[in-house]
Amino acid sequence: MSDTSEFELSRRGILAGGAATAMVAAAPASAVSQPAHRTEASPALPLRLKVNGKQQTLSLDPRTTLLDALREHLHLTGTKKGCDHGQCGACTVMVNGVRINSCLSLAVMHEGDDVTTIEGLGTPEKLHPMQAAFVKHDGYQCGYCTPGQICSAVAVLDEIKRGVPSHVQADVGAKPQVTNIEMRERMSGNICRCGAYSNIADAMAEVAGDDFREQRA
Ligand code: FES
Ligand code: FES
Repeated sequence: MSDTSEFELSRRGILAGGAATAMVAAAPASAVSQPAHRTEASPALPLRLKVNGKQQTLSLDPRTTLLDALREHLHLTGTKKGCDHGQCGACTVMVNGVRINSCLSLAVMHEGDDVTTIEGLGTPEKLHPMQAAFVKHDGYQCGYCTPGQICSAVAVLDEIKRGVPSHVQADVGAKPQVTNIEMRERMSGNICRCGAYSNIADAMAEVAGDDFREQRA
């Protein structure tokens, strides 16, 4: 078990203990005779997956999220934990080429999958075109949401290219196009508290190149 899991368990224990103490103080004596609830660790399960082109073998508590497997077990801390509840997009990675919120997915569901994180897109010496465009257009301020934004942006342009529909398309059934509205709608699950949205859209438009279409009035 990782240090983090032990910390989580002991933290829950402390919280449960604190709550139990408060209950004891508030409840009549007859109501407090039951033993305290205890959280038991689950037996570890084996997991093989490819991460950024490298085969990895892990042994994990089945409750471990893909996000925690990447950060705590493989030490790929580029992927960020924001809300841990599927609401901010900071944890976005690509699995078999499709973006997901890694905090909402259990690692053991990804046996044999191909995972790409921000570390697998480019290197400081050789940035991915989307990384370079984010730098050029100031697509970030504090940078906390940025790995998720970049992974999402890469996947969004690919989704549009593959014709994956969205509900903001003007012509239902038509092939989607790389427009500002289309990109912003598809990126709406990636929250940026610094408000770098316009610069992110500019970076994506640059990467889309000739595929980018000015918005119709
Ligand atoms: S950390 Fe996964 S969506 Fe916020
Ligand atoms: S750059 Fe700070 S939250 Fe997005």
